[in-house]
Amino acid sequence: MSALSSTVAAGFDVEKIREDFPVLKQKVHGKPLAYLDSAATAQKPVAVMEAMRKFYEVDCANIHRGVHELSQRSTAAYEQTRAKVKQFLNAKSKSETIFVRGTTEAINLVAQSWGRKNVKPGDEIVVSALEHHSNIVPWQILCEEKEAKLRVIPMNDRGELILEEYEKLLGPRTRMVAVAHVSNALGTINPVKQMIEMAHRAGALALIDGAQAAPHMKVDVQALDADFYAFSGHKVCGPTGIGVLYGKAKLLNAMPPYQGGGDMIRTVTFEKTTYNELPYKFEAGTPNIAGGIGLGAALDYLGRVGLERIASYEHELLAHGTEALAAIPGLRIVGTAREKAAVLSFVIEGIHPHDIGTVLDRMGIAVRTGHHCAQPVMDRFQIPATTRASLAFYNTLAEIDALAAGLRKVKEIFT
Ligand code: ALA
Repeated sequence: MSALSSTVAAGFDVEKIREDFPVLKQKVHGKPLAYLDSAATAQKPVAVMEAMRKFYEVDCANIHRGVHELSQRSTAAYEQTRAKVKQFLNAKSKSETIFVRGTTEAINLVAQSWGRKNVKPGDEIVVSALEHHSNIVPWQILCEEKEAKLRVIPMNDRGELILEEYEKLLGPRTRMVAVAHVSNALGTINPVKQMIEMAHRAGALALIDGAQAAPHMKVDVQALDADFYAFSGHKVCGPTGIGVLYGKAKLLNAMPPYQGGGDMIRTVTFEKTTYNELPYKFEAGTPNIAGGIGLGAALDYLGRVGLERIASYEHELLAHGTEALAAIPGLRIVGTAREKAAVLSFVIEGIHPHDIGTVLDRMGIAVRTGHHCAQPVMDRFQIPATTRASLAFYNTLAEIDALAAGLRKVKEIFT
């Protein structure tokens, strides 16, 4: 079956989807671009750019501050995104969705606000061996400050977390379990529902880093029973500089503000300041208004394409890519979890990933090389770096074939 007929047969017309992404139409170094770096940032459909352009062209004003028409319009557009985020995550209420710069800021917010109030010397925070630095360092900073201890769930050679070991780490001192829903470096999909249940049984809270999950699968924070869930706008086809922290209202209400400034206050005197209600208590200063509006357009777009359809099409891409890459002698895929998102991290014997990435770039193929902000993952597999192709629903089987052909050429050049 040809690449095109296969994707159409799966009920997913990828060529039609690609029409929505002008950036994909270009040539790079004279070759058609194959953008295989969506885990770093996803490309943006026209609808997102148009929504942001409309804001700047027609509605531009600060929000929550003006009685004038433009401010009313921009406030309404920004707050509409909150309603879309509520639906996207299936949160109970809009007030549980806080706009932040991205997943990194969301995790720092929880570590600093919840953590500084609740973590005591000797307490324990559990993270996993496959975390992005963003879900390690904020907890390390907190642990150092509070004389608490960071515990790490190990993983097996496939890149799957070892739940028996996780169970052993949980105890009366565990305050928080912070894990990725999907690993950015390996693609592993963690059994987060089960992991959250286990954390709760031990009396701990659970934060899920959803940066790599939200673009690829339907997330339901109520079904997961997540205490906190974070994702980034730019990875769900939205703009950079906007993201979301979901938190259960009772937890957010009990947390002190993270930053002080405009919008997060109710009253200010030099004697005492009182704080605004949720979610504004955590949203100090003029936010990324255009970004919020763009995020709303991105969620609408993903909704129109359908996350279930995206997940099943990407599964097809992953299966095809795994087979194509595994057939290349000397190539080893790093991260072979049974439950996996469309990430192909690999090493080729005797060739440095940066050389692979540079040669692929000359062929118009964009991949990421390095440690992917997950140095402990590289240490676990005793490698300095990988080459990573990360796929999205606008990629084609033909692009994966181009990657495989490119890698065979890389091998010819370097061996
Ligand atoms: N965390 C992003 C990645 O994995 C930047 O590439």
